[in-house]
Amino acid sequence: MTAPMSAAPATRATGPGPAPSGEDLVHVEKLRMYFPVRQGILQRRVGWVRAVDDISFGVKRGETLGLVGESGCGKSTAGRAILQLYKPTGGSVTFDGTDLTKLGVTELRHRRREMQIVFQDPYASLNSRLTVGSIVAEPLEIHHIGSGRERQQRVNELLELVGLDRSMASRFPHEFSGGQRQRVGIARAIALNPQFIVCDEPISALDVSIQAQVVNLLQDLQERLGLTYLFIAHDLSVVRHISDRVAVMYLGKIVEITTRQLLYDRPLHPYTMALLSAVPIPDPVVERQRRRMILTGDVPSPVNPPSGCRFHTRCPFAQELCRTDEPPLAEVETSHRVACHFWSEINAAGGTRSLPVMPETGAAVASSPYQDEDEGEGMTDEERMSLKGDSPMRDPLIGGTPISGETGSRDDVGLSESLDVPQKPA
Ligand SMILES: Nc1ncnc2c1ncn2[C@@H]1O[C@H](COP(=O)(O)OP(=O)(O)OP(=O)(O)O)[C@@H](O)[C@H]1O
Ligand code: SF4
Ligand SMILES: [Mg+2]
Repeated sequence: MTAPMSAAPATRATGPGPAPSGEDLVHVEKLRMYFPVRQGILQRRVGWVRAVDDISFGVKRGETLGLVGESGCGKSTAGRAILQLYKPTGGSVTFDGTDLTKLGVTELRHRRREMQIVFQDPYASLNSRLTVGSIVAEPLEIHHIGSGRERQQRVNELLELVGLDRSMASRFPHEFSGGQRQRVGIARAIALNPQFIVCDEPISALDVSIQAQVVNLLQDLQERLGLTYLFIAHDLSVVRHISDRVAVMYLGKIVEITTRQLLYDRPLHPYTMALLSAVPIPDPVVERQRRRMILTGDVPSPVNPPSGCRFHTRCPFAQELCRTDEPPLAEVETSHRVACHFWSEINAAGGTRSLPVMPETGAAVASSPYQDEDEGEGMTDEERMSLKGDSPMRDPLIGGTPISGETGSRDDVGLSESLDVPQKPA
């Protein structure tokens, strides 16, 4: 059983987020998503996974906001909590003027037509027993939109819109390539004419040669249909092509958010510098100056995140203040917010260029003076096991499909034929 949300531990607020702008289609304010950790025969709650911990940002109408960070930092959880696939532990998500966290199930189902998701693994997210035509028509059927004939026409139109032939409607997902399957997933996501789509690593599972095609398709659809995207990726080189602005996430927190131009030209947070230092730069002059910064250690456990700045156990610039005080995500210049106590000093000193270099690799040494702190250790196997089956899933519609149960995996709710949340590997 899920513990009452009020039982979740309080966090220290990191100050108000950016004021909602009239241009924001989606505005997230102090959003938190904690999952209970349970242990023992009685499944007592022994802690919380603070997957998303007090994040605030807006997504402007018609823009693409990239959301980037290492594996496990909370990107997918943030996307799902925004869509209310998870009931947030705290905070608000305002969509087109309505706070979604305050809506009841019926109202939420109605609003969800306007928000969709495209998943990373196009094979796992498509029902293998349905034809592609049925998969794309499913949201229309569930929302009782159009007659059978009209739905058929709409399916043809959608398939063509995503670059597939209408004759493919009678085929099954296994007859398609990875890129084609992702196109089917996109066709279904746009079937109900949504305004907002969370693209959760939509190209990570595809061949490099296909990735650009799918990115181009998403951009083309955005222009034609006026879509707004939250585009999740773990690689800054991917979001560079599609994002207007980029938010960088570390261990449940947004550490930097700014325009694409500013982020790539002048990253101010050490974590962003590290992520960016791994990305080759097309400009040969800038590329020659690029210094690789290799972070040591894994992302710490979100069950027991480091105190103060969560990055202090891996940050080569960390100082005592970083251990004790959490830096707020502050606007340091127009359209540029950073959560670091020493961003100004670090950048004045030359950023990664001020770090000692390992002669063998030419990369900057990026170990934190606090790297041996206990808190910096990854999640234990026991903690990981105890997470299974205990997330507060709402019962909404996505792509027209009801989701219930606690984990969102298909097999635990007896809806394995229709759920479109990707099944977790056994
Ligand atoms: N349903 C759940 N129940 C319990 N813990 C969860 C659940 N979903 C995610 N978590 C935990 O929350 C943290 C963030 O996970 P999330 O999947 O959001 O990360 P991510 O940034 O999307 O990672 P990746 O790049 O690997 O997809 C992880 O520690 C994960 O184990
Ligand atoms: S310098 Fe301190 S506050 Fe800034 S990122 Fe490093 S640890 Fe965090
Ligand atoms: Mg993810």
